[in-house]
Amino acid sequence: MGMRGLLSHARDLIACSLYGESGNGKSWLYKNVLRENNTPFIVANCANASRLNSITQEICNCIVEPGTVRKLGFDEEKAAGISAYFAKADVKHKGSFDIVQEEPLLEAFRLFHSTVPQKKIIVLDNLESILNSEDLMTELADILILLDDSRYAAFNINILIVGIPYGVLQYFRETKNSESVANRINEIDKVSGLDENQVNKIIEKGFSQLEILITTGTLDELAKHVYSVTLGIAQRVHEYCEMLAYAIEENGWKYDPSLLRQADEDWLYQSLRQCYQVVEGHLNSRQTAVARRNQVIYCVAKVSSHQFDSSVIDGLIRKEFPGTIPETNMGIGSILGELSKGSNPLLIYNNSANTYAVRDPRYLMCIKLVLYKDSAHQKVVKRDFSR
Ligand SMILES: Nc1ncnc2c1ncn2[C@@H]1O[C@H](COP(=O)(O)OP(=O)(O)OP(=O)(O)O)[C@@H](O)[C@H]1O
Ligand SMILES: [Mg+2]
Repeated sequence: MGMRGLLSHARDLIACSLYGESGNGKSWLYKNVLRENNTPFIVANCANASRLNSITQEICNCIVEPGTVRKLGFDEEKAAGISAYFAKADVKHKGSFDIVQEEPLLEAFRLFHSTVPQKKIIVLDNLESILNSEDLMTELADILILLDDSRYAAFNINILIVGIPYGVLQYFRETKNSESVANRINEIDKVSGLDENQVNKIIEKGFSQLEILITTGTLDELAKHVYSVTLGIAQRVHEYCEMLAYAIEENGWKYDPSLLRQADEDWLYQSLRQCYQVVEGHLNSRQTAVARRNQVIYCVAKVSSHQFDSSVIDGLIRKEFPGTIPETNMGIGSILGELSKGSNPLLIYNNSANTYAVRDPRYLMCIKLVLYKDSAHQKVVKRDFSR
């Protein structure tokens, strides 16, 4: 998903949604695109809406917030008045308002429009924080439907919904069975991670700013490693490289591939501690002869697609550990089932498609860092991070 795609959608549609894994750069992407194109926007945070138990209240707060007022050039006096008004209004009980004159969302739209007459955007970021709230998702549905009601549409406001892990369209279709809402939303292609080349560019830039010397060949090797452990998720790339930079500093600002092991370990401890515990909790506790479950977890990190079924894992185990295959069924299905259970499941089971997916991409990174294959003994070994 590139800038151009986002922009063309943002211009044409009443509402669109942007989704992707956490840390992938969704917030970064819309801020950059909207600023570059001089499109005025305010960001309402769904985490706040969840705290306030009202999306409308959060939108109103954003519009009258002092910083926003200055940034968008609102009339301070008018904003102060409206702010006091919102403080008084019990926005949760919209029924008590005369909809034309006093409905808080309409007032907020009017205020926004009075300073910014051109097309403008309200971003609802971090949608995931309200996905489990029936009430707030219903409120969102109502707001989306109101956007093309002529009283609201007059204010020339579009909504951009941003969040993880999947599209809001799917939510409205499946959970609420609401085509009318889904029809109003245009979902932009998933914001995917950086590719190996982009990771390479970021590292190159960092190295040059820190004046660390590196040859092209070594840089390529390094980028490949960083890409493979971070899956190209922008935030993780930055975090990993920070750890690597400290290791290089300790080494007198000289890069050496042997420092990667140190960086892996530091990074795992700094940002993946919780993931590490989850992965560890799912490994075979005793050293059984084959430790099939560990093989399964190891192979899960080798799958190239997001969703997979037990036959994919079965096939990978046969390929990776050919010396351990029994004549009978290996029972991969039930192992995958176990990995999807408990208070901290590693996988999510998709009932309708009978497939699995890793619950958090960081678990994948963790598995890649922690487990390796002892080919001679056809076993999965856990790297010891003893600290
Ligand atoms: N294309 C990019 N190049 C370099 N750095 C990037 C890029 N995209 C994002 N980043 C950086 O990665 C980090 C995470 O980005 P961002 O906060 O936008 O992620 P997000 O998808 O909004 O995550 P969340 O769902 O957790 O809110 C930020 O520090 C951002 O500056
Ligand atoms: Mg974000």
